[in-house]
Amino acid sequence: MNSAPTPDLDVVIAWIESRLTDDQYPESDARRLFHGRGHSFPGFSWLTVDRYADYILIAAFGEPDEVRSAVLERLVGWLHDRLPSLQGIVLQSRQGRRTGARVVHGEVPDIISAQEAGLTFELQPMRNQNVGLFLDMRPVRDWLRSNAQGKRVLNLFAYTCAFSVHAVAGGASTVVNNDMARPVLDWGVRNHRLNGQGLDGIRMLPHNLLKSWGKMARLAPFDIIVSDPPTNQGGSFNAEKHYPVLFKKLSAMLAPAGQLVACLNSPFAGPEFLRDNAARYASTLSHRFDFPVHPDFPDATPERSLKVQVYSR
Ligand SMILES: C[S@@+](CC[C@H](N)C(=O)[O-])C[C@H]1O[C@@H](n2cnc3c(N)ncnc32)[C@H](O)[C@@H]1O
Repeated sequence: MNSAPTPDLDVVIAWIESRLTDDQYPESDARRLFHGRGHSFPGFSWLTVDRYADYILIAAFGEPDEVRSAVLERLVGWLHDRLPSLQGIVLQSRQGRRTGARVVHGEVPDIISAQEAGLTFELQPMRNQNVGLFLDMRPVRDWLRSNAQGKRVLNLFAYTCAFSVHAVAGGASTVVNNDMARPVLDWGVRNHRLNGQGLDGIRMLPHNLLKSWGKMARLAPFDIIVSDPPTNQGGSFNAEKHYPVLFKKLSAMLAPAGQLVACLNSPFAGPEFLRDNAARYASTLSHRFDFPVHPDFPDATPERSLKVQVYSR
């Protein structure tokens, strides 16, 4: 018999209810509704709930058990009753590198779209792990949009080009997107088109960044560089090994008043990781500010959560 106490789902439901009713983000229907991964909700560090328009994505991390199944069943029932327009709910089971996605309510097409600050993004909810938009980066995308007017932007590790779409919406004069995976840059092209953004002035470079510095340097200088790499992705990027190279190369590609946005999403390195590397390998740059922890992503140990820092000369 499972003797683990049943965690109090009412706490989760109250949090989700507050997110559904706070009107925090106009013209948006993509949002993290519940973030248990930051260990701020005892008994729920295995659970996240995201909303993308009329679809919900629940992610359950670790081994399933009876208590969790009961929690998930109640949660799905509550979401169905609470959101009359809901079309479907996907449950992602994430155990280490193994991920499976299945529809647990309604119907879910392979491709849907959702809005962020009036911009539209293609999402693929049945994909393993990442569905096309990293919700925790929203404040950084808002900042980029507000600061992009007339700027030459370099978007590294561009993925589906969400930063690029916001930069163009904010009036960027050019955006260079780099990602080693061509399919995600093609997805980025579709995201630009969904927003009626022509591709003049937008470049897509499908290369391993660490092997294509020459090409990037020829396109410099840039007024804003966004660097949002994975923490550790096979042989292609390792933050510990490669962030020093990034700081060195990127500081040389910045225009005189340029700004570098350095991101790191690792629970194993605190904010000092980026600051120490910047001081050592980009000594011409000064640290300007850290983005605060996103309120939709509360974390009992904030230094373990996403780090985003802005540098300039
Ligand atoms: C964390 S995602 C970036 C998310 C993106 N900045 C956003 O906010 O939507 C990491 C991306 O880095 C790419 N990547 C990993 N190593 C790379 C490398 N050495 N050169 C170019 N792209 C790389 C992956 O293909 C992946 O799309």
